[in-house]
This record gives sequence, structure tokens and C-alpha cells, in this order.
Amino acid sequence: MSKRKKSLKSTIWGGRFVGETSDNLIKFNSSIDFDKKLYTQDIEGSIAHAEMLSKQKIILKKDFLEIKSGLLKIKKEIETNKFKFRIELEDIHMNIESRLIELIGESGKKLHTARSRNDQVVTDFKMWIRSDLDSISELLKELQKELISQAEDNYEALMPGYTHLQVAQPITFGHHLLAYVEMFGRDRSRIQDCKNRMNECPLGSAALAGTSYPIDRNFVAKKLNFSSPTRNSIDSVSSRDFAIEYLSVLCLIGVNLSRIAEELILWSSNGFNFIVINEEYTTGSSIMPQKRNPDAAELIRGKSNRLVGNLVNLTNLLKGLPLAYSKDLQEDKEPVFDSSENIKNCLLNMIGIIKSLKINKNKMLKALQKGFPTATDLADYLVTYLNIPFRDAHKITGKIILLAEEKDCSLDELLLEDLRSIEPKIDSNIIKSISISSSILKKSSFGGTSPRLVLKAISEAKRRYL
Ligand code: ARG
Repeated sequence: MSKRKKSLKSTIWGGRFVGETSDNLIKFNSSIDFDKKLYTQDIEGSIAHAEMLSKQKIILKKDFLEIKSGLLKIKKEIETNKFKFRIELEDIHMNIESRLIELIGESGKKLHTARSRNDQVVTDFKMWIRSDLDSISELLKELQKELISQAEDNYEALMPGYTHLQVAQPITFGHHLLAYVEMFGRDRSRIQDCKNRMNECPLGSAALAGTSYPIDRNFVAKKLNFSSPTRNSIDSVSSRDFAIEYLSVLCLIGVNLSRIAEELILWSSNGFNFIVINEEYTTGSSIMPQKRNPDAAELIRGKSNRLVGNLVNLTNLLKGLPLAYSKDLQEDKEPVFDSSENIKNCLLNMIGIIKSLKINKNKMLKALQKGFPTATDLADYLVTYLNIPFRDAHKITGKIILLAEEKDCSLDELLLEDLRSIEPKIDSNIIKSISISSSILKKSSFGGTSPRLVLKAISEAKRRYL
């Protein structure tokens, strides 16, 4: 143990310390178990930094070339599981730097010129989040594709639309699915906003004050695909709003996924029976042989909780922190990594569920025949054909519903004379007005559920999202 600590002292900050760090703190302080995920970004960032140092004649070209090949060798070691991560070297940055010095000696010791771990870690983290956002956006696109394809197969499949989970009006299944396509479309545009805003490079801000070396921050920013360097060195190393924004984008995706998951769970239950979730995405019960449970959808609903939790976690972490860097900020990574892993698993499972979903059109239609879904159409008939003001029409329709309830029949099963006993002006035009098929055809206002519009919306969605 003391041997390992000696090597730590000699390579990094050994100079100022006479005693040894407590084992308790070594374990407590170490983030390598989770921040090793940043190794690619750390190496890429270090290569760009070293190249800039050499271009600016702060180090020799030979140093840069040795640093670069050493770092690439380390990358290979990590990727082939040959790299020995050491907790006493705290984090990915010091693990890589120490190994570099081990491998190439003197030139390796020059890499950390004109930078600090404070600007290094936030640069790595931004690069990691940026690329993660791209993968999440791709998965969202894939999900939109499957939703659009199901919508296309079911653009005129009738189902009850609900408000308060009570039958409200006829809609098509395709129209309902396209609602989620829009929601996930906004999630993708939030991803883009988040990426645009965060894409400024902190490297070169050093510990907090900038540096006295003649560095070229624009060069590094460009090398690492940032749109520019950050403008304030203190802000650079203190801020994590980009990570909070990332978590809030993921939180909203999680909430949207949770809502569709909830609907899939309901629709596949015995009471509804609207859909069948493919076996691949369900599990059995250890005791009840008949059961087929929608576990994937339930877990998607359940996982959204941690996406909310991680957002709250990081938001609270930040609110009391004075500028600039404090070690509390090391706590920024786990919520981000956790949300990332979970949202991707949720998306993969949801894509699979939607892709293999089977629809029971008959059950949907049956459910639509209960609950007077065309009551609004009846009121609209009274307005349009009989010139009755909408408020009065609403009241008259209410009375007709009561009558139908009494007779235990649907609206179109009522006889004309029954209807006329409530409103004598009612004529035979009412029949076509209150049928489900005419109700759906007439919902042709922009964004409405008529199958013709749904087809149009599908081709628009393809153009906009795929
Ligand atoms: N592992 C640290 C983190 O994740 C790196 C930065 C450390 N900086 C420092 N001044 N101790 O935040």
C-alpha cells in the first residue's frame, strides 16, 4: 500500500505533501470506477492540447509526437483490457497521465502544461455528453420511424379517444401514435438546442484564471469540434448547466416514454385488449401459468423516476456551490451516466415493442361503440342543421344521452320519435351525423383525426423526422 502511494506522490503532487493520504480518503476521493468512461475524450482532448502546445512552441514537436503515440498506445491498452486502473490515482485524467509518464518519460511530464484537471474534466465531459446526445437522437429517430410505420398501417383503424380515461370521441389509432411522433420530435429538437448551447470548449481555462502561456484556445476548440472556446475561464470550470440541461432533456424523454408505456400497459390489459405486445417484450409469472406481463413497458414507466431523480440530484448539487471548482463537482458524472444508460435501454425496448405490436381492431371498435363517443357530433348536428346555439344544443344532447342510458342503447339505436320527444325539429339527417364513420371523416380541421389528414400527417412526419 505505502509503495503505491509513494508512486502517486512522486508523479502528481507529491512535492507539497510530507504525510500519506488516508486509505479512507483514497477510496472516497476516487472516481475512476465511473469516470473511466471518459477515456476516449480524455485522450482526444490531450492530443489536441499537446498539438497546440507544440504549435505555440511551448513544447517541442518531438514532445508532442511522443505524447500522441503514447496516448494512442494507452487507448489501445484500455480497449484491450490491458490497462491497470489505480484508485489511488483518483480519476481517468491522472491514471492516463501517470501511465503516459511511465511509457514515455520526460515528454509525458510536459502534457499538463497550461491546463488543469478543472478545465480538462469539463472538456471531456462536454465531449462525452455531446456524442451521447447524438446516439440518443438516433434512437429517438428509430422510434419515430416505427411509430410512423404503425400509424401508416392503422391510419384509419378506429378507436375511442379518451379524456379523463373516459370515452370521449372517435379517433384513429394512427392519429394517436402520431401524437407521440410529435412529442419525440420536440425531444430531438431539445437535444439539438442543448448541443448548440453547450458546444463551447473550456480547455485552456486552466484551474480558473486562464494561463500565462501563449496558448491558442481557438485551435484546440476547432480540433475538438467545438464552435468556439468558452469566454470566461471561471465560468468554464464552475458551470455544469449543460449537464443539467442534458438531464432535463433526458428526463422529458423519459416522461414521454413513460406515458406511451402506460398506454401500452392499459391497452394490453384484459379490460381493453386493444393490442398484443409481442412475447419478446413480456414475461410470465412464477405462479400463475396464464400470465403474460408487460414487463418491458412497466420498466420503462418505472425507469423514468430515476431520470427525474438524477435531474434533481445534479440541480441540488450545483445550487450552493461558490465559484470556481469544488470537489463536489465530481458528483456530476454518475447521474449523467445513469440517465444515459437507462434512457438508451428504455428506447431500445420501446422501439422493439412498437415494431412488433399487434392491433385488435375489432376490440377497439367495440369499445368505441360504448360511451356515446358521437355525442359532440350530435350537438354539432343541432347547431349546423337546426340552427340551435351550441350551448342549447349541448343541453339537448345531454337529455338524449340520459334517454339512451335509460334504454341501455347507443345513440344510433334510438328511434327518430324518441329523439323528437326531446327536440321536435330533429330530422332524418341526424342518422348520418351521429355515426362513428361520419364523425371521424368530419374531423378535418388542421391537425385533426380524419384518416385523410392522418395520411397527410404521416407523409409530413416522414419528411420532417426521418
Ligand atoms: N475527478 C475530478 C472531477 O471529476 C477532476 C477534477 C479535479 N480537480 C481538482 N482540483 N481536484 O471533478
